[in-house]
Amino acid sequence: MRKISLLFLSLTGLVSAQKVKVEALYGQNCAGCHGAKFEGGVGGSLVDGQWKHGSTDADIYRSIAKGNVQLGMNPWEGVLSDEQIRSLVIFLRENEKKTLTQGVNFPTPSPDTVTKTELENYKIEALVTDGLKNPWAIAFLPDGRKLVTEKSGQLRFMTAANTLDPTVISGTPAVIEHGQGGLMEVALHPDYAKNGWVYLGLSDGTREKNDKGKDDVRCITAVVRGRIKDHQWTDQEWIYRPDPKFRSGAGVHFGTRFVFDQGYLYFPIGERGGNIEAQNLSLPNGKIHRVYDDGRIPADNPFVKTKDALPSIWTYGHRNPQGLAMDRRDGALYNTEHGPRGGDELNLDQPGKNYGWPVVTLGMNYDGTPMSFNSADGKKMESVTEMKGVEQPITYWLPSIATCGLDFYTGDKFPKWKDDLLVGALAQQEIRRLRIVDHKVVSQEIILKNIGRVRDVATGPDGLIYILLNGPDRLVRMVPASK
Ligand code: HEC
Repeated sequence: MRKISLLFLSLTGLVSAQKVKVEALYGQNCAGCHGAKFEGGVGGSLVDGQWKHGSTDADIYRSIAKGNVQLGMNPWEGVLSDEQIRSLVIFLRENEKKTLTQGVNFPTPSPDTVTKTELENYKIEALVTDGLKNPWAIAFLPDGRKLVTEKSGQLRFMTAANTLDPTVISGTPAVIEHGQGGLMEVALHPDYAKNGWVYLGLSDGTREKNDKGKDDVRCITAVVRGRIKDHQWTDQEWIYRPDPKFRSGAGVHFGTRFVFDQGYLYFPIGERGGNIEAQNLSLPNGKIHRVYDDGRIPADNPFVKTKDALPSIWTYGHRNPQGLAMDRRDGALYNTEHGPRGGDELNLDQPGKNYGWPVVTLGMNYDGTPMSFNSADGKKMESVTEMKGVEQPITYWLPSIATCGLDFYTGDKFPKWKDDLLVGALAQQEIRRLRIVDHKVVSQEIILKNIGRVRDVATGPDGLIYILLNGPDRLVRMVPASK
């Protein structure tokens, strides 16, 4: 893969005539030898899971770039760009997965049947199957009740008996439901039992009619806290409310999850479709922020002394992080984020570090063209896969799974999963269990599949695993089963 430094980016990264989609790229250059359906011909099958010349993404990249002249595979380096070769790797991987998973049984739970996984067996209990609309996040109250957000802006109680309380909490802040944004995260202050603070992450802004009678929406992710008395939101305080000048009309990439630790609150704001803005430290989008739990800025944040930088920024270069979790064993912070096609990431978030978007990404555009972006001075640039000074994800998903919801399993009902990371996925409708040792993913397993888009996954105080699903909208939980 190409390693280039920022200095040379302006020389080498310029986009040439590379609007060719990956399907066409394959059809024109590869199908003749490897088959229109990748089934093989003069060259071998590219979807049978057998890679004679190395099976990692980097190996396949090298096979294409360097070729194998003796065997009759010409090198494509210099003929195709780095990003085009990368897009072919993504494309081959997507199709390999499609072929290999045909007829494979994943752990798809159904009521009353036991689902077996490598280490633990479980049953799914459906708690709420009716009445929730686009649920986004769940938080657990000490008395056994739960709070659930709905994207439209409603904050609701679930009773301790896991029924939906029909009375919606009133007086919650106005929310601009727009595209992917709305009322998103909910979490309790770690000392909730003493102070009663409930934190919400939401799309904040304005919706007005313009001259043409059309909705003019301006919004960005914000963080607010308040208390709930009976069914009334009170004592509201803004914790992080970006200046109105940072609002945008984009309907995408709001981010939003909360992690509390030692008096700090960490939360991401997605790049709001702003692309290169994720690299600009004077903007709040495309960043993970750290503030005190009352909104003050810690004096030791990495950019407090950087001219024009927002002092709340903890890390930057993020696209759309919708998962954030801390490993209690060592205090390491992780986020998952939606990348472009083939570029979903798990990152280890270290203060002041750059996570690359959109300059460095392993993905390509959804339409199969190489990833590109407009630089700050308006030049069309091609993304690269690696760059000095930019952090690589600790793992990524190819094909993309559409990561959403992230939690370490900290309960005691599934002892063999203790402190494993649970990764939810919308598009692939799954939960993956990642074992993490020394900040590395040492194993990965799909433990649930195909019962809905996983919006949130959380260890309950009872040690059971609660899952909010979209389409159909439901709250379910995993309970241990003996066989
Ligand atoms: C002229 C025929 C020909 C063309 C065109 C061609 N390949 Fe190949 N390819 C081969 C042969 C032959 C091999 C070696 C097969 C073997 O070792 O069995 C190969 C090997 C490969 C491998 C390594 C496979 C493995 O098992 O490790 C990959 C990946 C690959 N080609 C991808 C491509 C892609 C992508 C393109 C289009 C950009 C392409 N090839 C174009 C003939 C071709």
